[in-house]
Amino acid sequence: MRLLILGGTWFLGRTLAEQALERDHNVVTFTRGKSGSDVPGAAPHRGDRASDRDMAELAAAGPWDVVIDTSGMTPDLVQRSTQALADATGRYVYVSTVNVYTGWPTDPLDDDSPVRPYTPYGPPGESGADQYGREKSGCEQAVTTVFGDRATILRPSVIFGPYEYVGRIPWWLRRIAKGGLVLAPGTSDRPIQPIDVRDVAAFALHAAEQQLGGSFNLSAPIGSATFGELLEACRQVTGIPAVLEWVPHDFLIAQGVREWTELPLWRPYPGTWRVNAARARAAGLTCRPLADTVADTWRWLNEAGPRLDHERASELGITPEREAAILAAWAAHRVG
Ligand SMILES: NC(=O)c1ccc[n+]([C@@H]2O[C@H](COP(=O)([O-])OP(=O)(O)OC[C@H]3O[C@@H](n4cnc5c(N)ncnc54)[C@H](OP(=O)(O)O)[C@@H]3O)[C@@H](O)[C@H]2O)c1
Repeated sequence: MRLLILGGTWFLGRTLAEQALERDHNVVTFTRGKSGSDVPGAAPHRGDRASDRDMAELAAAGPWDVVIDTSGMTPDLVQRSTQALADATGRYVYVSTVNVYTGWPTDPLDDDSPVRPYTPYGPPGESGADQYGREKSGCEQAVTTVFGDRATILRPSVIFGPYEYVGRIPWWLRRIAKGGLVLAPGTSDRPIQPIDVRDVAAFALHAAEQQLGGSFNLSAPIGSATFGELLEACRQVTGIPAVLEWVPHDFLIAQGVREWTELPLWRPYPGTWRVNAARARAAGLTCRPLADTVADTWRWLNEAGPRLDHERASELGITPEREAAILAAWAAHRVG
């Protein structure tokens, strides 16, 4: 298969390129050459998605059996790439997100849950996550409008694994590695269902090879792991016997803890970890155990390899002082 990846040098795109090469596909990655690092064996094609000339040159370098778009974040850029590549491409696989759903992150979701309508501007005070979902919804529309039944839309939930630049599991690994008393959010038996980047990539390539059209949620099975198992896996791989103090949701909310980022992956809603990916599972999605993802992420953090200093990593984590203060307040609350 002649495969073009729009992106391909950071996280999911990088993993896709590596796996596609292992499957003997001919892989071209399209980036500006500003960030990330090229995957050995993939042919880099430089250009900017914002440039009509660069996109026309990319189309002329085709034809492409499949384009996988991991880097399309705004509808204008995705509209430009779909229009430029329409006649030179068999199938367009677009990596979207569960943030497109109106119910994310509060409600349980399935493959047919309602999607946010795209509007060029959001309401006043729109959160970054809502803006991201609204714009990804517009990107999906741009893909399906041009490619119709030659479009494949993938909606992953939270993606973990080696090269994860947002740094959610890396933050927990580093925190546990420091040892001591760790502020653990909610309850240890709270189900979670992140998906490994390698399982997302494998399904994307499977969809490309098998010409699977339509939209697919991508997540590990509901209830396949718990927050307690995640932190226990961090203790195991770091070898540090940190002590976990589980502090209930309500107490964290009362302390004003910022959900999702200050304690990475913590959200109190019932829907956050109830994303049903039945359609993808029926079509062949398989997911590895969370402990394998944690172990491989720890190995990657400790070896020399491609790294990306991403602005989003700075949003993550609680300061040691604030963690200690909340733990002290929780201890006093329990005594009182
Ligand atoms: N992380 C999660 O938990 C999660 C969950 C759900 C969905 N997703 C989605 O998964 C995808 C993850 O992608 P990734 O980070 O792994 O992507 P990637 O394909 O590895 O990297 C993004 C690439 O895009 C290139 N790029 C950026 N702007 C460009 C432009 N204007 N023209 C040409 N190239 C450009 C960058 O290189 P240069 O800077 O060199 O151009 C970079 O190589 C995203 O679509 C995200 O929305 C992520």
